[in-house]
Amino acid sequence: MRVCSIVGARPQFIKAAVVSRELRSVGEEILIHTGQHYDEELSDVFFEELGIPEPDHNLGVKSDTHGRQTAKMIAAIEPIVEDTDPDVLLLYGDTNSTLAGAIVGSKCDVCVAHVEAGLRSYNREMPEEINRVLTDHASDLCFAPSERAVETLAGEGITDGVYWTGDVMYDNILAVRERVATQSTVLEDLGISADEFILATVHRQSNTDQRANLEAILDGLSSASLPVVFPAHPRTVAKLEEYGLWERAADDLEIIEPQGYLDFVRLLDTAERVVTDSGGVQKEAFFLETPCVTLREETEWTETVDCGWNELVGPNTDRIRNALQTDQEPNSNPYPYGDGSAGQRIVSILHQQFDATTPEPELESLTPN
Ligand code: UD1
Ligand code: UDP
Repeated sequence: MRVCSIVGARPQFIKAAVVSRELRSVGEEILIHTGQHYDEELSDVFFEELGIPEPDHNLGVKSDTHGRQTAKMIAAIEPIVEDTDPDVLLLYGDTNSTLAGAIVGSKCDVCVAHVEAGLRSYNREMPEEINRVLTDHASDLCFAPSERAVETLAGEGITDGVYWTGDVMYDNILAVRERVATQSTVLEDLGISADEFILATVHRQSNTDQRANLEAILDGLSSASLPVVFPAHPRTVAKLEEYGLWERAADDLEIIEPQGYLDFVRLLDTAERVVTDSGGVQKEAFFLETPCVTLREETEWTETVDCGWNELVGPNTDRIRNALQTDQEPNSNPYPYGDGSAGQRIVSILHQQFDATTPEPELESLTPN
């Protein structure tokens, strides 16, 4: 079996780490890095920390408008797919790198497999929502992190090739949690103590690219009674500077560089709570049982809201302030995202499709803990 995996942005390196490890024990992987993220702390650090093999191809696409960035990726991925003739093109999440892979795979008539299929925010203003919908509809295999995602796909008429595998990020958290506790010195380095700080991340286009929203978030975070540790995405730094909000942010928040995965998980695990607009961080907070306040009006990870671990407040100062002053009271600890073996399940399904004679696993075979 020959699998061509496409990654390009921070969360995709983290997701691919799990699957790549399993994949290489049973088949050949050709790893394409589109270069969408290129700064050392958004890219290389994850390859090093998570032992991801060097990409076979780095397309060096870097930042651009959505259309140009996606087009450059398509143009660069297509000849590699034609030359290497993979059995399957494996895509992750909802970035422009995901969409570019989906378009190439469907045009080149290669089997397209989507990890994290079936998620919807139902907000078509989000570039990621368009990427998700188009990728799911172009995919031959959909690996869904939850039963709800399977139902969502069914509601859109996608039932063939759909598997509930669980979520690969849960695999990762389980794999690194112990290592994080022994190896990360980030709390000591920053001079902070567990449960005595709030962690915050902001990078969503709707929050960064509208001054009023970024300022409202800053006002909300500034009201916190605990120090706010803020690993800043370069997009957010650029916008804070452009809007003349940088000095204010630097005074009110503990702004730090984007963190490597181990240090970030340590911060997330020990924070009193997290305030974020990240998809992955909402979910990891839930796995680590850190209450989450989400700076969006909707989420794809609805299970985390239903059970009380996640509160949606949008970029709204009063709602952020209220959320920070109120104790979140989770009402249950369900396991909607599988049992921590999503990577194995995905690879075993691919193996059965392209190599082995064993029957396909039943969807129901996933039994949460
Ligand atoms: C992208 C994804 C988003 C994902 C996020 C993960 C899309 C449409 N968006 O958003 O879904 O949640 O990655 O972090 O695919 N920049 C740098 N250095 C880098 C990369 C980016 O400085 O290495 C700056 C550039 O100014 C760039 C801006 O960040 O214009 C945005 O980068 P881009 O990759 O387009 O989108 P993200 O906001 O990172
Ligand atoms: N992350 C990290 N360092 C940081 C911020 C986030 O390692 O400074 C990790 C985080 O643990 C999660 C992933 O990056 O696994 C989330 O990426 P991001 O928020 O950029 O994107 P999204 O999940 O919203 O697409």
